[in-house]
Amino acid sequence: MSWRGDALAIAIFTNPQDQSADKSDVKTLTLPEALKNLDIQVLSCTLTDLITESEFTGEAGTSVSGRVGIDVAIRKVMLIGMGDPAKATADTWRKAAATAVKWAGKEKVKKLALSLPTYNQDVSLTSQVIAEGVLLAAHRDKRFKSKDPHPSLLELVELLETNPELATPAILKAQQIVDGVILARELVSAPANIVTPITLADTAIAIAAESEHFTVKILEQAECEALGMGAFLGVAKASDIPPKFIHLTYSNGVPTRKLAIVGKGLTFDSGGLNLKTGAGSSIELMKTDMGGSAAALGAAKVIAKLQPTNTEVHFIVATCENMVNGNAMRPGDILTASNGKTIEVNNTDAEGRLTLADALVYTDKLGVDAIVDLATLTGACVVALGEDIGGMWSTDEPFAEAIAKAAKDAGEKFWRMPLEEPYFDQLKSVVADFKNTGSRAGGAITGALFLKQFVEKTKAWAHLDVAGPVWTERESGYNNAGGTGFAVRTLVNLILEF
Ligand code: BES
Ligand code: MN
Ligand code: ZN
Repeated sequence: MSWRGDALAIAIFTNPQDQSADKSDVKTLTLPEALKNLDIQVLSCTLTDLITESEFTGEAGTSVSGRVGIDVAIRKVMLIGMGDPAKATADTWRKAAATAVKWAGKEKVKKLALSLPTYNQDVSLTSQVIAEGVLLAAHRDKRFKSKDPHPSLLELVELLETNPELATPAILKAQQIVDGVILARELVSAPANIVTPITLADTAIAIAAESEHFTVKILEQAECEALGMGAFLGVAKASDIPPKFIHLTYSNGVPTRKLAIVGKGLTFDSGGLNLKTGAGSSIELMKTDMGGSAAALGAAKVIAKLQPTNTEVHFIVATCENMVNGNAMRPGDILTASNGKTIEVNNTDAEGRLTLADALVYTDKLGVDAIVDLATLTGACVVALGEDIGGMWSTDEPFAEAIAKAAKDAGEKFWRMPLEEPYFDQLKSVVADFKNTGSRAGGAITGALFLKQFVEKTKAWAHLDVAGPVWTERESGYNNAGGTGFAVRTLVNLILEF
């Protein structure tokens, strides 16, 4: 190997364990032949030393690093565990690449080389997912810092042992995907005094300008009134910032099937008169309540670059703020949605479903084959699945499977939840067609059942509750603290494979 630079990161699987060996035997790691030669010829046996000293076995999530002796072309090395090859997924590569990048940052590395095994014997996909991991881990949001807290010296990351003809386009694709993820991260991380409904509308307009295959329509408040969107506008009433109804359409060639993506876009959710109070209400995090729409717009940005043919996708966002003033909707008010259904608002903090109701009615008329909505809908979903897993509800098995496959390849986790119809009884209203909330128990499910009332014609519908995963307080894998851009990659895969 002739590469010279500051640092070399090598990812490695655990060795297959010898079944006949005594179970009490400590696991060991034997380097593959090529690495053994490299270690002896170039690295003064640093790899062997590191493995022995730290009893490194290559388990996923572990790594060891060290200084190579002086007079060597490479100054530092890291070994990154990839675990059992049978259990490895594309995300194993993204995370390994991220581990290397974060290490390089801490070690003030300028020039980093990566050596990873090939995923699925697919050089293109391997290069793509490694590049995704590198770029996602390297992205730090410094927009609101007066001083860079993590100045990075990293100038160059090189993939070793690859085929440039295959890797180059794959890395470009990764860059385009990551640009969409970063857009979503930055929309979510920006506070509500920076990202308003106007900002989201302007973002959609800017995306539309990136490709001739996009058209964009922004419905202003008066047009939403004319369409009878009483549920959406009921939420928007107490805000000084105007609501915007965004309809962004990508159409390229004759579509095999048509898809619509609907995102919840509350740029701030105070709870309304059912104000979010006290610790645990997380009112200070409610700038993230547009995470669903951020994912939709992030995916649209990627599609503008990838320009898939025979594709028609609609991106719909009814965006507003849920605020408090003398015009605010009151608990107990009855709103009429654009399909004529009446809703008793027994809780003004269940506002997302009110905005989505009108967005879904609008989308249901577009004649698409499937609708997927994404929403930071309920704290109950976070209680059920934790912060790293989104909830998925669907009326259609093949569509649910398509989303599950798209998510798996993206390294984003969703767990299928039931559309338990009897729970809809909780939403029975004395005065209106139904109420907007039921009891605390099963709150994520009644949220999904509420939304289902507004999809009548479209064959396939799925609801993704992303309240947990759109934001993280701690860095892990390729995510840094802040907005994660969750669901962008799933949506892109879904659009490409639908
Ligand atoms: N935006 C919240 C849900 C949320 C909670 C998102 C935590 C992210 C983190 C949503 O509008 C909301 O307030 N939901 C209520 C519903 C309840 C009133 C039925 C909730 O989860 O408490
Ligand atoms: Mn709310
Ligand atoms: Zn909300």
